[in-house]
Amino acid sequence: MAVLVKNGKIVNHDRSFKADVLCVDGKIVEVGTDIAVPENCQIIDATDRLVIPGGIDTHTHMQLPFMGTFAIDDYYTGTRAALSGGTTMICDFVLGGKGTSLIENFKTWKGWAEPKVMCDYTFHMAITWWSEQVREEMTEIINNYGINSFKTFMAYKDVFMLEDDEMLECYRHAAGIGALAMVHAENGHIIDRESKRMVAEGVTGPEGHEMCRPEHVEMEATQRACVLADTVNCPLYVVHVMSKSAGKVVSEMRRDGKVVFGEPIAASLGTDGTNYWHKCWRHAAAHVMGPPLRPDPSTPKILMKQLACGELECTGTDNCTFNANQKALGKDDFRKIPNGVNGVEDRMAVIWTKGVHSGIMDENRYVAVTSTNAAKVFNMYPQKGIIQVGSDADIVVWNPNRSRTISKDTHHQAVDWNIFEGLEIHGIAEKVISRGVLAYEFDGDKFHVEQGHGKYVPRQPYSEYVYNRIHQREKFYKPEKVEREPYTGPVIKLPQ
Ligand code: URP
Ligand code: ZN
Ligand code: ZN
Repeated sequence: MAVLVKNGKIVNHDRSFKADVLCVDGKIVEVGTDIAVPENCQIIDATDRLVIPGGIDTHTHMQLPFMGTFAIDDYYTGTRAALSGGTTMICDFVLGGKGTSLIENFKTWKGWAEPKVMCDYTFHMAITWWSEQVREEMTEIINNYGINSFKTFMAYKDVFMLEDDEMLECYRHAAGIGALAMVHAENGHIIDRESKRMVAEGVTGPEGHEMCRPEHVEMEATQRACVLADTVNCPLYVVHVMSKSAGKVVSEMRRDGKVVFGEPIAASLGTDGTNYWHKCWRHAAAHVMGPPLRPDPSTPKILMKQLACGELECTGTDNCTFNANQKALGKDDFRKIPNGVNGVEDRMAVIWTKGVHSGIMDENRYVAVTSTNAAKVFNMYPQKGIIQVGSDADIVVWNPNRSRTISKDTHHQAVDWNIFEGLEIHGIAEKVISRGVLAYEFDGDKFHVEQGHGKYVPRQPYSEYVYNRIHQREKFYKPEKVEREPYTGPVIKLPQ
């Protein structure tokens, strides 16, 4: 199976250059000019197009069982939609409740994903409770199941939330086994209390979802998580950075030398929380996710600028979709609205439009934040995230000069809503190659791969990109005792 992408401009994270790319049996085997065309080779013309690494979505929840129902986009519709938008790999979450086994959860989620995925996938593992069993299973998971990233929750009290002492234990163990800790940073105690107060005071609509957890609730938890992780010298990845103040905390922590990475998502980069005040309940509820989008309309641009200058690292979507009739479980009480939004299909276009087309970041940084950095952070580089010999042939022929308007009526996702409805985007994934096969063509809206085409991508511990400084700090940040003469003076007596 051979595919030759001709006449395009290759854009990697470090440079752009004119060259052709030959893919054979799923791998990139040659990058250059005057490549000899093998027999039975499919030729894709990329004249006047960019040729970029396939997007990696760092954060999805396909068919997640959540808040009494299941996310409507499953591993089939979700990954099919991903491909159509230029994403060739998703990082999904194994997310079991308290008291459940990590190993059993892994098997369940993999059983769901494997037969359905249209693109490659890997898993992060959620840690929703803490015990000796969980500690042992984390070790087992990292050694034998290919997962090196573990998400902890500071919110969803009594469901997924860990307390600080449990997070410390979890992070200490993560650092000992070469894992990356991830965090959902919101103060769950405040949310629990304030959401009850909000309802008691008669605010039952989606605006209450934001009002009971304004951005300082996210900011405080982000800061606390960074301090907890740093205390035990554990690298930390802050998922779904939704607010300017949380983004600022991540940036300040990085400036202070802490090993912290921040992930804004398509939603926080492409829209805002004013939608919660929309008069149409359905519209407002469609935007409900945690942490919420922020009503400050300057948020998306500031997060994009942070992404452009290296203060934030990767981009995901937190794609976790529920139809209007599922969201309606919370029609009389915002606390019952299933949390989650779309994004897996539109992330690449939203970031190109709001980031590159607008002049905030260049094409190379775009590649870094949409694929390369994810590959480095999660230890898949250079298998993923770059166009070079030996890498997986996940490639997008990107046309920056074409536009379209996002709509639920034309998107590929199963969900009956789109938070980017009506947004005119610039930049189209015209041809998408996954594992060396032309998987999707925009013109004619044609898919050429079936369910099960994607493969599980196992990942090793101790990502160099993440652990370099951790190892060095281990050597040099040891506590040193002061040698001194013993104290020989009087000591007061404490009452018995
Ligand atoms: O609202 C969200 N984010 N839903 C998915 C679960 C999570 O916290 O990531
Ligand atoms: Zn989360
Ligand atoms: Zn999530």
